[in-house]
Amino acid sequence: MGVCPIFFIRGARYSYKGASSPAIEDVSLSVASGEWVALLGTNGSGKSTLAKMMNALLVPTQGVCYVSDMDTSDAEISAPIRQNVALVFQNPDDQIVASIVEEDVAFGPENLGLPPEDIRARVERALRLTGLSEMRRRSSYSLSGGQKQRLALAGALAMEPKALVLDESTSMLDPEGRASFLDCLCELNTRGVTIIQITHRMEEVVHASRIVVMASGKIAWDGSPAMFWEEKCAEFGFDIPQELELLRLLRAGDFVPAGTRPAVNDLLEALCL
Ligand SMILES: Nc1ncnc2c1ncn2[C@@H]1O[C@H](COP(=O)(O)OP(=O)(O)O)[C@@H](O)[C@H]1O
Ligand SMILES: [Mg+2]
Repeated sequence: MGVCPIFFIRGARYSYKGASSPAIEDVSLSVASGEWVALLGTNGSGKSTLAKMMNALLVPTQGVCYVSDMDTSDAEISAPIRQNVALVFQNPDDQIVASIVEEDVAFGPENLGLPPEDIRARVERALRLTGLSEMRRRSSYSLSGGQKQRLALAGALAMEPKALVLDESTSMLDPEGRASFLDCLCELNTRGVTIIQITHRMEEVVHASRIVVMASGKIAWDGSPAMFWEEKCAEFGFDIPQELELLRLLRAGDFVPAGTRPAVNDLLEALCL
């Protein structure tokens, strides 16, 4: 027996009340601890429904969804499930729970009933990781959209989850904010935090170790980034990130050997030719 996956979903279907067809259907996905999965798909393909299933906000109407070895259909364990999996949504205004930044970040750990010094340490760390330390006494509502999004991430991090599910959580960030948000995710992933990242921005997908594409409520493709960029990205109609397009052109022009993964210096050298 291998190590238990952090997410184990088999034959999952979810139908919203009154909807004529299921939002997701026949979805099977197993994610190992430490993976970074980019979840892609057009609007309405079922990504948010699957994300909510992954932290037990929604329970499959058919099939199963386990987090570690916990069955999400067991309402009695939804609290420990949400301790393992933090979900960060697109709209940060919906996620503010306290009027002062550091109180907002402390809300989750306080609800866990942790000792005050542990709460303080978690809040410090989450503020530092998200670059909000300086704004700790500010009103949560006075923050910019991007800062609020980082606040939502800080609140999630303070729970010290094993997995983060990010549902278009970078949508309000400017390019600089997005870069530091992604740096933060890279650092967390290096420390073993599993990341499920829903995004429409292909340049954010380059950090993923695996790519899953949803279409019409089903998993349409699941595989490695290399295969995705080479074969599937264009096929599914996604834009190829500029840096990968540049690499493709360099390869086509024989500046970079095919099949290699050049270092930045090799690329710079190729560009100077
Ligand atoms: N609360 C809801 N009630 C009814 N239908 C919904 C609800 N939320 C989403 N849907 C429908 O479920 C399908 C999948 O939606 P969603 O999971 O939000 O997709 P995505 O996040 O990929 O845009 C869509 O057809 C959408 O219209
Ligand atoms: Mg969505």
